[in-house]
Amino acid sequence: MSAALGPQKYRPIHFMLNGQAHEIERLRPDTTLLQLLRGPHNLTGTKEGCAEGDCGACTILVGRLQAGQIVWQPVNACILLLPMADKSVIRTVEGVAKEDGTLHPVQQAMVDHHGSQCGFCTPGFVMSLYGGWLNRSSFSASDLDDLLAGNLCRCTGYGPIIKAGESLAGQPLAEWETVLLDEEKAYLETCEALPGLVYAAEGASFIAPLSKDSFARAFMEQPGAQIIAGATDIGLWITKQNQKLLSFISVQDVSGLDDVTEQKDGFYIGAAATHHKAADFLAAHFPSLKELWRRFGSVQVRASGTIGGNIANGSPIGDLAPAFIALDADLLLRRGKEERRLKLEDFFLSYGQQDRQQSEWVDGLFIPKLSTDWKFNCYKLSRRFDQDISAVMGAFALKIEDGKITAARIAFGGMAGVPQRARSLETALIGQALEPDKINEPAIDSALADDFTPISDVRASAEYRLLGARNLLQKCRLEMIVDKPVRLAGEGLASAGLSPLCSIASSEARQ
Ligand SMILES: Cc1cc2nc3c(=O)[nH]c(=O)nc-3n(C[C@H](O)[C@H](O)[C@H](O)COP(=O)(O)OP(=O)(O)OC[C@H]3O[C@@H](n4cnc5c(N)ncnc54)[C@H](O)[C@@H]3O)c2cc1C
Ligand code: FES
Ligand code: FES
Repeated sequence: MSAALGPQKYRPIHFMLNGQAHEIERLRPDTTLLQLLRGPHNLTGTKEGCAEGDCGACTILVGRLQAGQIVWQPVNACILLLPMADKSVIRTVEGVAKEDGTLHPVQQAMVDHHGSQCGFCTPGFVMSLYGGWLNRSSFSASDLDDLLAGNLCRCTGYGPIIKAGESLAGQPLAEWETVLLDEEKAYLETCEALPGLVYAAEGASFIAPLSKDSFARAFMEQPGAQIIAGATDIGLWITKQNQKLLSFISVQDVSGLDDVTEQKDGFYIGAAATHHKAADFLAAHFPSLKELWRRFGSVQVRASGTIGGNIANGSPIGDLAPAFIALDADLLLRRGKEERRLKLEDFFLSYGQQDRQQSEWVDGLFIPKLSTDWKFNCYKLSRRFDQDISAVMGAFALKIEDGKITAARIAFGGMAGVPQRARSLETALIGQALEPDKINEPAIDSALADDFTPISDVRASAEYRLLGARNLLQKCRLEMIVDKPVRLAGEGLASAGLSPLCSIASSEARQ
């Protein structure tokens, strides 16, 4: 066990579950919260569907204090490891109704609107709606789309469930609810005095340092430990690949590592900032990121998954790296006391290989501000709108002077073994007008073919990917002309005041 946490002793995992305080020991740290709930706690209302964060049947709420208030997040218990619940309050579907069994308004709405048939998915839907309820959602159509995007139902159909959600708009919290909420808040306040978690059971360990210095020291001492953040990747290594991981070091409680701050020239995004937190902050400065994040996983995945995890996993189909590369971001790394800064695009060396030394970890990203003559748009191309992996992810930062492109930074995901700049395409665009009907199409196509040799796989053919990348560029140029989203199909171009395009390819390429 690490000496970096000082003379602290092992301690149990502390959390409050449906109003009852618990201290857990002797369970392996790679136990999922779902296993704990359905096993020792016999709370079988929370279901296991996919065990990989996709279906939402296991949705529970986790609350933590932020600025003195509890913020509730719906999370997938199937991929949340037990020690990650330390210092939190948890609600499962068993903790929603009044003590005497009276249904909560959220549950009653599901009954009244016939939002359940076989019932397997219902606890997950109730918890997602209950998260909205506690966070005082407006339950508008668009809020409901987002709230429920991470929950699948195979029998009821979504109409009745959405109607149940809509009926909750404007309803106040019940008086009996606020009593438990006050108890939960008081519990979280007492947790603030707990030392950093040092936990071990059955030969496996999990530590959660409280500062960057102690995290850096601990990782120097245990270079083989598995850094863990939101576990939206790591959870699947455990549940799907049956990996037995013996030693974890968590970023969750590291002070300052989840900061998102505006600086003079740009923005610092701490590695442990969740997608939920970073999206709220960055989308205000780069509006195009808002839609990208809306389509990133689901509310549950965005509540747990972190920016650092999305970059450090080195995935060629991760959604954020192309966007941040086009924005010219720097990656901030740390090893012991040494800090290193490199261009994000240089971090990805080849498939599965990143420029990271032993005991080095991601501290965060620095994203420079765009000057006013640059525009930035990014797009995710996937089969489903929500909760899907990109076939192609395109990010475009273009400098426009007198209607002409004078500089470009373009990056794609899904087109190579790593997220990658499209340097030939960038060169081919210099001097060209924004209007796609003035585009030199052969030059664009040959530049893209020069930049990328994509593979065909289950998500898309190589041909589709090249065509998709080209059409995303077309869409980007159109949207930059009118400074708003443009739909290419139907009357979209005409309603945006744009002339019909000859160059949006509707080729026979199939995914
Ligand atoms: C249902 C579902 C939907 C998803 N949808 C999307 C999507 O739409 N787009 C997308 O891009 N991804 C998606 N993902 C993948 C995943 O959610 C993201 O990549 C997420 O950002 C990973 O972050 P995490 O905090 O959960 O990482 P973890 O699982 O905790 O860790 C992932 C890797 O990063 C390493 N790591 C984490 N933090 C650091 C750090 N600070 N320094 C060094 N190494 C670190 C870990 O050691 C591990 O190797 C999805 C996953 C699921 C389960
Ligand atoms: S069981 Fe499907 S998301 Fe957890
Ligand atoms: S009610 Fe059967 S899966 Fe939703």
